[in-house]
Amino acid sequence: ESVNHLHRSAFHFQPPKHWINDPNGPLYYKGFYHLFYQYNTKGAVWGNIVWAHSVSKDLVNWEALEHAIYPSKWFDIKGTWSGSITLVPGKGPVILYTGINQNETQIQNYAIPEDPSDPYLRKWIKPDDNPVAVPDYTMNGSDFRDPTTAWFSKDGHWRTVVGSRRKHRGIGYIYRSKDFKHWVKAKHPIHSKESTGMWECPDFFPVSTTDFENGLDLDYAGPNAKHVLKVSLDMTRYEYYTLGKYYPNKDRYVPNGESPDGWDGLRFDYGNFYASKTFFDYKKNRRILWGWANESDTVEDDISKGWAGLQVIPRTVLLDSTNKKQLVFWPIEEIESLRSSYVRMNNKDIKMGQRLEVKGITPAQADVEVTFNVGSLEKAEPFDPSYTYKPLDLCRVKGSNVTGGVGPFGLITLATPDLEEYTPVFFRVFKDTSTNKPKVLMCSDARPSSLKQDRGPLKQDRMYKPPFAGFVDVDLTDGRISLRSLIDHSVVESFGALGKTVITSRVYPIKAVKENAHLYVFNNGTQTVNVESLDAWSMERPLQMNNGAT
Ligand code: FRU
Repeated sequence: ESVNHLHRSAFHFQPPKHWINDPNGPLYYKGFYHLFYQYNTKGAVWGNIVWAHSVSKDLVNWEALEHAIYPSKWFDIKGTWSGSITLVPGKGPVILYTGINQNETQIQNYAIPEDPSDPYLRKWIKPDDNPVAVPDYTMNGSDFRDPTTAWFSKDGHWRTVVGSRRKHRGIGYIYRSKDFKHWVKAKHPIHSKESTGMWECPDFFPVSTTDFENGLDLDYAGPNAKHVLKVSLDMTRYEYYTLGKYYPNKDRYVPNGESPDGWDGLRFDYGNFYASKTFFDYKKNRRILWGWANESDTVEDDISKGWAGLQVIPRTVLLDSTNKKQLVFWPIEEIESLRSSYVRMNNKDIKMGQRLEVKGITPAQADVEVTFNVGSLEKAEPFDPSYTYKPLDLCRVKGSNVTGGVGPFGLITLATPDLEEYTPVFFRVFKDTSTNKPKVLMCSDARPSSLKQDRGPLKQDRMYKPPFAGFVDVDLTDGRISLRSLIDHSVVESFGALGKTVITSRVYPIKAVKENAHLYVFNNGTQTVNVESLDAWSMERPLQMNNGAT
């Protein structure tokens, strides 16, 4: 089969062909980072799923190994779905994954490496005492999946969370084990929430409230932590998380109530990003997030291209030291090793309607960091807090071309010079009328990204080109706000205010491709905005991006 390369990423994780979805079982072990992922061995749509497996020494260059887990036993003959890895002292890494049995029931299984001393972890054994958990009569056998990395508590038990639902209530069941073989369901779920639907790919982990450089291992039980519970909602295909407190003795997690527990909750990423999973990196003491960026092209075009989906650049996860009310994310430092040609811009005023081109790099394959200074907020549009504006609605109405007071300003990525096609990533600063504090909107608007026509009215025949948006919790006291975008042909990952708000978008321009793509900074607000600094790099292709799953 032929693969169309026009929009394939250069430095994102992507196998040479076929469909991928969730990242599974990320791990650092004996000098290697491991990434497993849901992979269709036969085509560019979902189906025939196995755990494909790649390893890396630096999270940038990857080598493909043989598939780790694939349907072969009665307890997974109809599917080997998502799961995680736990490093169990004395045993080595153990996979927990969801198997689909002959009756299409979802059950939880485990697998162990044939040789734990092999740093590649090439061969996996699925012992015959599987499964380790099956749905009982009170539970939903077609919505019971995606076990998390287990943690160990002082009471001598391992615990894992499995996503589920009861009617419209999303649920995370807790299972306990002493030996990592016999698992018993706890009396109560760790948490549940009405009308959120099925909780896919839950993730549960601590973040430090005192150390803003290092991540925490799952077993951390000290006082200086908050816990994070993230769930992926299959009804909307987006995720939300809460911060809260974990009570190990009660098997309960209680959100702290500072952000909504539900649809309007905080998100790791406000764009095309799903089924994410973190792991603790023992090598560098950091918690790293992987996430799947789904397609936005039509299904027919996915098939004709021969591939679909990619994994985002791994991101470090920390509690936001400025407000301690949310997380912050940043691309792993290793990705900077791919930076090559470099341009810089300093202290440039951008007046209303102005657009400056960033020249001297490859705009379709780039890393851009820019710090704006907005000066005074006098001209900022009023933001009436009594009205519950959704960031998305604001972005939809006030796109990058609607003149504002302070903003819209930001980057225009993957653009043709006449802006027939462009993907703008920008801020718009409002002033909260009750507090006089700034209210900052960040958008990544895919609507003008492509001239390509939909193929028909059905969802699968339409391009997915929405505006994506989130608020950014900054006070702008020094007038500064930063933006970083990683641009890679059909993916734009953007980090507002050093990772307080992140938006990933998948776009399919037909003209703004390869050498014909351009990059600009722009301002469409009446207030002049200063580019204090702009650093932009061309990005190299990793020497080894041989994720050659077959
Ligand atoms: C999330 C998901 C998981 C499931 C897997 C199957 O994208 O639906 O819930 O385990 O994908 O591929």
